[in-house]
Amino acid sequence: MLKVLTVVGARPQFVKAAVVSKAINLHKNIDEKLLHTGQHFDSAMSSIFFDQLGIPKPSIQLNINGGNHGDMTGRMLSAIEDVLLKDSPDMVLVYGDTNSTLAGALAAAKLHIKVAHVEAGLRSFNRRMPEELNRILTDQLSDLLFCPTVTAMSNLASEGYSSHMADLVGDVMLDAVNFFKPMARKPNSCNADRFILATLHRAENTDSRDKLIAIVNALNFVHQNIARVVMPIHPRTKKLLVEQNIELNVDVIDPVGYLESLWLLDNCDLLLTDSGGMQKEAYFFGKPCVTMREETEWTELVDLGVNKLAGSECELIITSVKDLMGLDIQATVNPYGDGTAAQKIAERLGSE
Ligand code: UD1
Repeated sequence: MLKVLTVVGARPQFVKAAVVSKAINLHKNIDEKLLHTGQHFDSAMSSIFFDQLGIPKPSIQLNINGGNHGDMTGRMLSAIEDVLLKDSPDMVLVYGDTNSTLAGALAAAKLHIKVAHVEAGLRSFNRRMPEELNRILTDQLSDLLFCPTVTAMSNLASEGYSSHMADLVGDVMLDAVNFFKPMARKPNSCNADRFILATLHRAENTDSRDKLIAIVNALNFVHQNIARVVMPIHPRTKKLLVEQNIELNVDVIDPVGYLESLWLLDNCDLLLTDSGGMQKEAYFFGKPCVTMREETEWTELVDLGVNKLAGSECELIITSVKDLMGLDIQATVNPYGDGTAAQKIAERLGSE
């Protein structure tokens, strides 16, 4: 029996773990336990996902969040180490690129416990992003690297990883969209039928007052002149806008659960975001995307012409929205696999 400890902490990781855990449950020789670091803690950012996605309550809840990056990651590292010493799992399974990912991988590797990384090999090549450091380090600490794309595989190859460590499994977020799409539901707080969906939470956008103002100006302009903008707001963005007295005049709603997020993606005309995962979700729903970042890990979408990188420049965001509005996307190729990533991951773990 392979004892796996899965470490999650932030919103998108709950979605990814939901589909992989369902696949793992079908394997009689894997015993999975779930640890929630507590990185995301508001009910709209955490427990709603567990309820909606049918994820069992985590067996271990650390309640660690907030503080500077080093502080948050350090507290998680220490607490996860205690759990690993007590539980002695054979493998730690981590997702993506958050501080919870790095803490889980580092705690395990230092105790010589194997690490499996889902969403391995992604690179933005921007080391100023905390997520980029988390990804590079987590890949270094991992024994099994589950890559979502061919690009991720070649990133690892060019960093010298041997091909037998890396598996091209596809993107677990596609599995999640396929599974949960029939359950999508309109958020109570949204009364729009035609709209642009916007999200904004990246530290590199929110923590610079100039960038935040430029992005807000663009969102306000789009809302007034192009199409209604509906924006579920991340708590950090909300806090910063209030603290800095920046006026955002779009349809702001509270953060939504996963099923509501799927409905918004299915019904919007375009996505305007700085999220990583939502860029792909927009594509799965055949919607164009303007990404408010300088670079993306999901370069396939830019190459296909369905995603434009606009950074945090007001003018460029507005012209990119104008360019992509109404674009008809025929998703005939899917660079993100065939929707069986979770099954492939579970099979590989089961063969360990
Ligand atoms: C984190 C990840 C990011 C991921 C995102 C997914 C890191 C470095 N960043 O970013 O890669 O894309 O999650 O959503 O790990 N807060 C609340 N309530 C919550 C959660 C956060 O109020 O439930 C506030 C807190 O003030 C917190 C701040 O938001 O300090 C930032 O949260 P944090 O988890 O540090 O980063 P995210 O921006 O959510």
